[in-house]
Amino acid sequence: MSAAAERPRWVDVAAAAQLPPGAHAVYEVEGLFVAVYNVGGDLYAIEDRCTHDDNPLADGPVEGTEVICPRHGARFCLKTGAALSPPAYEPVATFPVRIADGRVQVGAI
Ligand code: FES
Repeated sequence: MSAAAERPRWVDVAAAAQLPPGAHAVYEVEGLFVAVYNVGGDLYAIEDRCTHDDNPLADGPVEGTEVICPRHGARFCLKTGAALSPPAYEPVATFPVRIADGRVQVGAI
């Protein structure tokens, strides 16, 4: 496989100004709902679907770089997608995310 084939295809989702530090938003990226978080200027993108019972995660509170599922309280790491507490045990998918030319872009893999 060539290096070019391993690169994500960047999907433009919003103006960077719409996602200031402390903000998050959900975007549809190639049929998936992806929650993008700006934590102190660092961007993280995870699939907006709890691995416990498919509840949207973006409705839940954020503590540091963890999001808490609003339904049963599972915690997930925004950096890695890891499930950090029950009742979720499987990680959520993460996506590359960047700002390019003033736009937030999510990497579709
Ligand atoms: S649906 Fe998220 S913890 Fe149950």
